[in-house]
Amino acid sequence: MQSDSWFLRAQEVISGGVNSPARSFAAVGGANPPVMREGRGSRLFDVEGRSYIDYLAAFGPLVLGHAHPRVVEAVERQVRRGSLLGTPNDLEILLAEELVRSLAGVDQVRLTTTGTEAVMSVIRLARAVTGRSLLVKFEGTYHGHSDAVLTRAGSGVATGGGGDSLGVPAGVSQDVMTLAYNDLPAFETLMQGRGREVALVLTEPIVGNMGIVLPKPGYLRAVADISHRYGALLAFDEVITAYRFRYGAIAEELGVVPDLYALGKVIGGGLAQGAYGGRRELMQYVAPLGGMFQAGTLAGNPLSAAAGLATLSVLREENPYPRMERLTSLLAQAILASAERHGIAVSVNRVGSALTLFFGKTPVVDYETARLADATQFSRFHGGMLEAGIYLAPSRFEAWFVSAQHTEDDINETIRAVDAAFGKMTSR
Ligand SMILES: Cc1ncc(COP(=O)(O)O)c(C=O)c1O
Repeated sequence: MQSDSWFLRAQEVISGGVNSPARSFAAVGGANPPVMREGRGSRLFDVEGRSYIDYLAAFGPLVLGHAHPRVVEAVERQVRRGSLLGTPNDLEILLAEELVRSLAGVDQVRLTTTGTEAVMSVIRLARAVTGRSLLVKFEGTYHGHSDAVLTRAGSGVATGGGGDSLGVPAGVSQDVMTLAYNDLPAFETLMQGRGREVALVLTEPIVGNMGIVLPKPGYLRAVADISHRYGALLAFDEVITAYRFRYGAIAEELGVVPDLYALGKVIGGGLAQGAYGGRRELMQYVAPLGGMFQAGTLAGNPLSAAAGLATLSVLREENPYPRMERLTSLLAQAILASAERHGIAVSVNRVGSALTLFFGKTPVVDYETARLADATQFSRFHGGMLEAGIYLAPSRFEAWFVSAQHTEDDINETIRAVDAAFGKMTSR
């Protein structure tokens, strides 16, 4: 059956045809997204057998590409031993030990099933520890889909509208302040006024959800110092960044260790996995030791732990980071050179193996500037790339991810496709 027929069926029985709005093509012209059947190495294959070089990486987790043999083997071994035990199990303990070993400032963790739950729990924990209610976060970051974090959010929330969601009670929003990212004076002013009410300052240290946006030099250090001056906790949402750019958190490389981390994506190796953690004295507040409740039927399941452990082992042993970074840098440079040849104004934000291409002249440093990027041009570019067999996230607010299984040939094929897509954009 044709991909379009599958998607028609999807639209009958799945609201919008997608189980997560960021997968929809509504923001890139509204065509039917190809319905996929398989992922192998650096490629996706749709139900018609057409292959695509994949830069979506399932929105980040697939740092080792699709179906990495070590991950497949670990999952196969565990599934025969049971996918869910509902008791403490050896693999969840091994995964927790590995996280504690490799994350600065983390003595203990709790495993969750998604990044959303990890962030939700971090917020509740900070409120439990401080006895305060106010959450401070930043425009264009995305922290999952719990009520507290759905104001002026990035990723699918930004793509589909203004970054807000219907259905979030005013009573929830009144305890949340959302400020511009990278705007230190705005943060200082807020903290001077309300710092003693703030339980948690929450941010992606490098933002991946309004496209890649890097912190200005000194910004995160200052945010940490000011937060602590007023007795607020600082959490980094490293659901995208941890183990994606280096083995461990990006926090350490940025020289700022937060009080709490939220984790997900890579640490599940493609299966459902989140985690949060921090110093022992903070984690003692979590039930059953303390009074902050958090739970999960699937939390710490051995199948996800097996996939996560296998992924972390490969990353630790093979250190693919320098190679992934080199390929991504080549790609970024080629995109810029091609855009210049075609007279198209673009900027590229890149960190390690992730980049975002923005259409427009203005450098992107926050949500305001990210929103200036031209949506129509992105949509045409996305269509051209898809035609050439290159799968990009269907939104100008997402990243391209290069995996450890992308080859130089993949990158060269992508560069040719970029050049052709730019060519088409200027010839019409
Ligand atoms: C930074 C960040 N935090 C949290 C989440 C939510 O994770 P999940 O989709 O696993 O609930 C995401 C998902 O994209 C994310 O990018």
